[in-house]
Amino acid sequence: MFLKPVVIGNWKMHKTAKEASAFIQGIKKAGTLSSPIYLSVPYTSIAACSEVAKNLIVIGAQNFYPMPQGAYTGEISAQMLKEAGARFVLVGHSERRRLFGETNDFIREKVHYALKEGLTPVVCVGETLEERKVLGAEETIKRQILGSLNGMTAAQFSSILIAYEPAWAIGTGVSAPLEAIESMHSVIRKIIFDSWGSQAAVALNILYGGSVNEQNAAILLNISNVDGLLVGGASLEVQKFATLLSNINILTEKGKG
Ligand code: PGA
Repeated sequence: MFLKPVVIGNWKMHKTAKEASAFIQGIKKAGTLSSPIYLSVPYTSIAACSEVAKNLIVIGAQNFYPMPQGAYTGEISAQMLKEAGARFVLVGHSERRRLFGETNDFIREKVHYALKEGLTPVVCVGETLEERKVLGAEETIKRQILGSLNGMTAAQFSSILIAYEPAWAIGTGVSAPLEAIESMHSVIRKIIFDSWGSQAAVALNILYGGSVNEQNAAILLNISNVDGLLVGGASLEVQKFATLLSNINILTEKGKG
């Protein structure tokens, strides 16, 4: 279902709708894409971005509330996102867990709701330094995965993405060490294998996130079990992101083909 590598830009709380459209025009001008790229944009930019995106640029959201409608002041539904043009949604990003108190139970509700609505959930997992010390990285991730994916069928693993983002590597400028990434990605695939079987483990794409940039993207994608990247800061500037995409052969820059 997904062409590898799956590269998602996570803009977090950056860019107005105008700035967002300009960014997408900029990427289109920078070169030709050879496979889809994914941008997770603020709610107010979804419609504007979807308007100009097309041609291999897929727009998604960063969060939603798992109810069809109702008295939930300040929240947004999956249906609203879809109508605006979103095709996927991040769920359980470490900033949502840490700053907004999201639990595995709540994340699980969102995963099931998104799947029901045909909105691809990108389920983010990752340990903090504290959790690494107290519980260990493997146990923390196991609890997050089992807690937030409980109830999924094996067949549904081709319709979700998991992003492993150690919280201690996000926004620091230094990605996690390659051996740590390799080991955690293989742990994640094994957890899926043990609980859902080989069909699920093979179908699942596991992304790495945490200080991915134009210099390390190709190296990170070479690690076994890394099927894609979730890129924060380095997805905010057209030239930086175009260079990153070109370094992993997803974009041929104009005049360099
Ligand atoms: P970063 O963010 O690339 O800026 O570290 C990644 C993320 O939080 O998804």
